[in-house]
Amino acid sequence: MSTSSRPHVLVTGGAGYIGSHSAVALHEAGFTPVLMDNLHNSDLQAVNGVRELCGEPVPFHQLDVRDGEGLTALFTSLEEAGTPLQGILHFAAHKAVGESVAHPAMYASNNVGGLGTLLEVADAHNIRNLVFSSSCTVYGEPENVPVDESAPFQPAESPYGWTKQASERVLTDHAATHPEHRVALLRYFNPIGAHPSASIGELPLGVPNNLVPFLTQAVAGIRGALTVFGDDYPTADGTCIRDYLHVMDLAEAHVAALKWCLAQKSREAVVRPFNLGTGSGASVLEVIRAFERATGERVPYAMGDRRAGDVVAIWANPSRAKEELGWETKRSLETALADAWRWQQALKTA
Ligand code: NAD
Ligand code: UFG
Repeated sequence: MSTSSRPHVLVTGGAGYIGSHSAVALHEAGFTPVLMDNLHNSDLQAVNGVRELCGEPVPFHQLDVRDGEGLTALFTSLEEAGTPLQGILHFAAHKAVGESVAHPAMYASNNVGGLGTLLEVADAHNIRNLVFSSSCTVYGEPENVPVDESAPFQPAESPYGWTKQASERVLTDHAATHPEHRVALLRYFNPIGAHPSASIGELPLGVPNNLVPFLTQAVAGIRGALTVFGDDYPTADGTCIRDYLHVMDLAEAHVAALKWCLAQKSREAVVRPFNLGTGSGASVLEVIRAFERATGERVPYAMGDRRAGDVVAIWANPSRAKEELGWETKRSLETALADAWRWQQALKTA
């Protein structure tokens, strides 16, 4: 099928980590991803990687999601070309928890303001299917694990977490007066890894905050030893537990969620949250051991103090996604870590 005859889907934040992998999964599933990004936290390398993996000149537009006129021009040009958008995967947002504490207004403007502008322009163009990047951070420290979608939100630990709670609320309130809307709120747990080709992956700018990018850079000798943030938590080995899922599994969940939106027949709006995780937790020390098993490399690490704001243990109950989206993770923790390491090595030699 040629690019122009496939259903077109906007991917905001399409040059970013999860957006680029999801674009490849969309293309594999028969859609044309229309990438849009302001390149605030990414560069054209990811766009080129997506094009290489898709084997086609996938469209890319350098545009800010808060630029209503730019969005209008883009949506109109797609309509005039006979390829109107069938839906939107909305990834574009700032995502650094620490930065959000220093710049809460910037996070509110970009993450919540950007969503508002996108919704207004989408309404004007009758685009009704939207898949939104939310986060398990909305649950805070859960009372029970695994956590399911009925768990109450806790007061947000950071301005970033608040933007995800607020965005879910905006989408829910908006749907109350727009009965044609179909919205999947995807609450990601911890995405890691890279496309197995190592053509695309995560490009952390500066010193990584997240465990796996720091770990691979430490093994590559770009950083000193990894600091394990706290070994006195009430868990089996004293380190925090998270639910790490392969970014390609997460990408495929977006295709499943989009198809779910397209298949809804209800006369009323549908807004549905879905947890996306493996259903199992791994501690920081278990991640280190799994990396060593998967790659044969030794991880230099040292125990350190707790990091402020970390929840002790959280992992998903992903049953709803399995039952309603027909999606579950297929790749192991070891596979994700081996792919993260292959990507790190490709970056080093690039
Ligand atoms: P990323 O930074 O790699 O990708 C986000 C992309 O959006 C970047 O390319 C950035 O340049 C772009 N962007 C930001 N603001 C924009 C704007 N105003 N207009 C246009 N483009 C803009 O981050 P990611 O890890 O791919 O995250 C994607 C989404 O998933 C975000 O909404 C994030 O909050 C959410 N999320 C990520 C994680 C995670 O651990 N990576 C976990 C839960 C939720
Ligand atoms: N960790 C270390 N050393 C490091 C980095 C992390 O020990 O150098 C530990 C953390 O303390 C935590 C675990 O590794 O126990 C995972 O930490 P990450 O920073 O990789 O991930 P978080 O669970 O803290 O947060 C991530 C994203 C958030 C998102 C959240 C839930 O960074 O944006 O998942 O989706 F909100």
